[in-house]
Amino acid sequence: NNLDNQMLIIFGASGDLTVRKLIPALYDLYTGNFLPENFVVLGVSRSNLSDEAFREKVVYSSDFLKERIEKDGKEKVESFANMLFYEDLGDSYDTDFEKLSNRIAGLDTKFKINRNYIFYLSIPPSIYEVVAKNLADQKLNDESNGWKRLIVEKPFGYSLETAKELNVGLQKYFKETQIFRIDHYLGKETVQNILVTRFSNSIFEPLWNRNYIRHIEITNAESVGVEGRGGYYDKSGALRDMFQNHLMQIVSIIAMEPPINDSPEEIRNEKVKALQSLRIMNDEKTLFENTIKGQYLSAVIGGNKVKGYREEEGVAADSTTETFAAIKFFIDNWRWKDVPFYVRTAKRMPTKVTEVVIHFKSPHHQIFNEQGVYDNDNKLIIRIQPDEGILMKFGVKVPGQGFNVESANMDFYYSSLDDGDIMDAYERLLLDAMQGDATLYARADEVEASWKFVDPILNYWATSKTAITHGYSAGVWGPKNADDLIDGIEMWRNPCE
Ligand code: BG6
Repeated sequence: NNLDNQMLIIFGASGDLTVRKLIPALYDLYTGNFLPENFVVLGVSRSNLSDEAFREKVVYSSDFLKERIEKDGKEKVESFANMLFYEDLGDSYDTDFEKLSNRIAGLDTKFKINRNYIFYLSIPPSIYEVVAKNLADQKLNDESNGWKRLIVEKPFGYSLETAKELNVGLQKYFKETQIFRIDHYLGKETVQNILVTRFSNSIFEPLWNRNYIRHIEITNAESVGVEGRGGYYDKSGALRDMFQNHLMQIVSIIAMEPPINDSPEEIRNEKVKALQSLRIMNDEKTLFENTIKGQYLSAVIGGNKVKGYREEEGVAADSTTETFAAIKFFIDNWRWKDVPFYVRTAKRMPTKVTEVVIHFKSPHHQIFNEQGVYDNDNKLIIRIQPDEGILMKFGVKVPGQGFNVESANMDFYYSSLDDGDIMDAYERLLLDAMQGDATLYARADEVEASWKFVDPILNYWATSKTAITHGYSAGVWGPKNADDLIDGIEMWRNPCE
């Protein structure tokens, strides 16, 4: 491949993300021959580890790589592990940058890296700026000799104000074109496929507007609870954890206008315009009527008792943090005026599923109205995960006398393709950053436009007496009240029922 030789420097390398996502993604890139000829990973964190201890931790003790040793042989995994190095950085991430810089320079010379570096910040956002400043002090942002890129993980801010502060803080030291804000949903094959479905077929795009679409529904359900992340989650909640970033990214791709080409800036220009058209909900009545928050309660599922959210470690006993959020909203532009969007996300649902449902309007003159149970709605269901694919529901004649109509499905599953192997989101996104392609990374203005919409909801939920946290038993589709959001049209589509 034609990738520049480069070094990936991971801050927060002893954390969970490195073992669970980054190292497996890098290993798969390695075995797929996607990595540049000379490539080095330098893990950085506060823990005091040798290179060998780091390799032991992220490679040899990782369940993922243990499996790969079985499959690919020890030698292959070992040659991958030999690309990994480690440097500790003291307690506060603001000392020892000279030492770090020297280490980078040493590895650079040894492996002929040509000063092309990606810094991956998998650390709390509160220290992004200090790390960026220290890198700049060591001239590690300087592109006069080799390129420099900065990948930042979520959460990108806690509110509009903090997101803006983060943007300003990072942009003091790195140019916007050097900053890659990761949102792993953009790395999902099926999310990218929404663009292709819309803009490479003449059968969908002409209908993709208020004239033919009645409403749009997006569900993101997880069966797991907060999985030991109670401390983080209780300060965050579903709206910050999933909705502001991942789901708003999906909304922007569903709603955007056709870009003039597929360049990162053109695609992101259109996405940001869609987000800037979101109708901001400011008054209490609108917020009360269009937002529902819920929290899971303990339940017995399959004979096992599942803890309620408030019993989870790290969660306050009187927490009102939402583990379920359902929002109805509108996008005020020519294409979407008055088309409701219903979006929900939650933990401890009956199953793990993410899908977008485009509900088309009924034909404006119905001649078969009386005859049959078919609901006259065409639906396009974009299954983001699992069973990645697309399903189209339409009416066909029931064989026999009369004109009875029933619903038929036309479907496509990625698994049916010969080369249907789906690249993991992190693998795709890391590869894009290595190539300098920011299309699937969030730009500063996108992040801010999304926060601008989410902020009033968060404030309302945090301060108003009318913002009730509804309980729902673990393992059901959220609080009953969420059904009232979908007023009179239809219920939510609950995919496993
Ligand atoms: C993360 C959230 O960003 O996305 C988690 O912090 C959530 O709470 C996860 O579980 C879901 O990702 P995926 O790819 O499993 O849908």
